[in-house]
Amino acid sequence: MKVLICPDRDAAIERAKGIIIDHVNARPKAVLGLATGGTMVPLYERIVSAYQAGAVSFAGVTTFNLDEYIGIPPEHPCSYHTYMRDILFRHIDIDQSRTHLPHGMPDDVDAEGERYEAEITAAGGISLQLLGIGKNGHIGFNEPSSSLASRTRVKTLTETTRNANRQYFPEGEETPRFALTMGIGTILDARECLLIATGADKAQAVADMIEGPVSAACPASALQFHRHATIITDEEAASQLRLTDYYQHVHPDGI
Ligand code: GLP
Repeated sequence: MKVLICPDRDAAIERAKGIIIDHVNARPKAVLGLATGGTMVPLYERIVSAYQAGAVSFAGVTTFNLDEYIGIPPEHPCSYHTYMRDILFRHIDIDQSRTHLPHGMPDDVDAEGERYEAEITAAGGISLQLLGIGKNGHIGFNEPSSSLASRTRVKTLTETTRNANRQYFPEGEETPRFALTMGIGTILDARECLLIATGADKAQAVADMIEGPVSAACPASALQFHRHATIITDEEAASQLRLTDYYQHVHPDGI
């Protein structure tokens, strides 16, 4: 794992933006795996600014999002379809027909998981998978105890995750109990993974992911098996790591 500890959240987001833009500029037909969540909002805003400044084009890029809630339609204000459209897709030159998310209201959820996997394969696989991390170590919506070989399927959300995501739903509206998510096996198939974690509430999950045993108890720890995984954190999210001196020695301030 390449562990890049940046001085603060801004620097971490800027570092991630640079990696994504370099990836797309080197591969105009990149297949990006995209993530949602609060961590990604400032990142997508910076990517939009970079696009507006002419630093990158997404005209040839294909995207696959990690996950979507089950039971809410794409046009729901809190769906990940809406999140992606409002925060990123409608501001850049991407061909909307090449943006993909699992459907949250499929007739048959198992078939939807298989269809999504087939679409990723047909696109040639994911070249760069962007990831956040949940406080309990989840990636996508692969909650603790998820099979490390899992593929796109339904997961029941933990109460921790539902509580963390409650802030994005209007008061009084139930947060979804289930989601369709790429599996950990799907994520590990990406040729490159880039995980971003900021803030003190991610510190334990980050330590478990990087320095803990590989275990379904911390789904993100499966990235230890990936040949090209980069973890970008700020100092707060890195605060529980034991080998910080080493990571800083190899990549001072995440450079
Ligand atoms: C959700 C998403 C994850 C994301 C996580 C952390 O559960 N499914 O992909 O990594 O939230 O979100 P945040 O960045 O808001 O902490």
